[in-house]
Amino acid sequence: MKHIFLTGFMGTGKTTISGSLKELLHMDVIDMDQAIEDMEQMPIPEIFAQMGETYFRQCETGFLRNLKEREGTIISCGGGVPLRDENVEAMKACGIVVLLTASPETIYERVKDSHDRPLLEQNKTPEYIRELLDKREPYYKRAADLEVSTDGKSAGQIAEEIKKFL
Ligand code: S3P
Repeated sequence: MKHIFLTGFMGTGKTTISGSLKELLHMDVIDMDQAIEDMEQMPIPEIFAQMGETYFRQCETGFLRNLKEREGTIISCGGGVPLRDENVEAMKACGIVVLLTASPETIYERVKDSHDRPLLEQNKTPEYIRELLDKREPYYKRAADLEVSTDGKSAGQIAEEIKKFL
């Protein structure tokens, strides 16, 4: 069984949907942000503040390199993972890549009350989210084997949609 990588912008529901997929497919789940926090013994905002974004990106790449030997697992990726070519290659080599999408307005509603995403803390507005999303979209789409919109759907519906593709 291959891994299933859930990718997409912050607030597209990767963590929630990984929970529904876990129930549906009876597979283990790893939340990549959580795994990096556990490895570094520090919350993500602190990793960004103390070590810098480049260090965090290296942690993501290092995490992906170590997945090869694992049984098929659902991996809920951080939103920046598909931005690096080597990450995309690593995911493609051992799994299928699912892209979850949502409108900037939906994303804004989902992230507005949380404070654990350093890239949005300076400017958490629908306009900025759209700008960042537009920049990232080509990278997300290029990496994806399957694209699933999450707007107006339940996590269960989305998980079923992904299951059909497998
Ligand atoms: C990031 C997304 C975050 C986290 C970090 C950077 C990004 O994960 O990895 O704050 O660059 O999009 P989520 O997508 O799970 O919020």
